[in-house]
Amino acid sequence: MGTQEIGESLIKSEDDILSCRQLIRSVAMAIGFGMTDVTRIVTAASELSRNINVHAGSNGIMRWKILQQLEKIGLQLEFEDFGKGIPDIEQAMTVGFTTSNSMGMGLSGVKRLMDEMTIKSEVGVGTIVTIAKWRKAT
Ligand SMILES: Nc1ncnc2c1ncn2[C@@H]1O[C@H](COP(=O)(O)OP(=O)(O)OP(=O)(O)O)[C@@H](O)[C@H]1O
Ligand SMILES: [Mg+2]
Repeated sequence: MGTQEIGESLIKSEDDILSCRQLIRSVAMAIGFGMTDVTRIVTAASELSRNINVHAGSNGIMRWKILQQLEKIGLQLEFEDFGKGIPDIEQAMTVGFTTSNSMGMGLSGVKRLMDEMTIKSEVGVGTIVTIAKWRKAT
């Protein structure tokens, strides 16, 4: 494993979605995820950074962290924003629910793509979405 095990990247503009995607792609590849899982992780990162742009005033940060356990390795991503918050998380997770005339598929899609997902949010304060994926033993 390389030396760096954590990192972060600001999400302040639409361009930062691309930076997040590229960063997470290289981290996931360095961990040894297969191409299918790399694509899943990058897609999830893309959706969550896009949500920060669309729903949280482009004011957030993504942090990544390599998870090490006895028999497995994983990647955890945390998307923290300082936007308006999510009043009803269960509703936000529902397929088709959107407040922006979009598809309302982002959060439910991310949950499907990843192994773990938790959302913490406080209205008027912000939101933290944490996701993780474990690398299958080869
Ligand atoms: N970071 C966030 N801050 C505040 N509200 C959010 C945030 N992320 C999601 N939401 C709320 O949850 C809803 C559902 O999010 P989701 O990503 O599933 O769909 P969407 O962004 O509306 O559409 P899509 O992602 O399919 O383009 C959003 O419409 C918004 O109301
Ligand atoms: Mg979305």
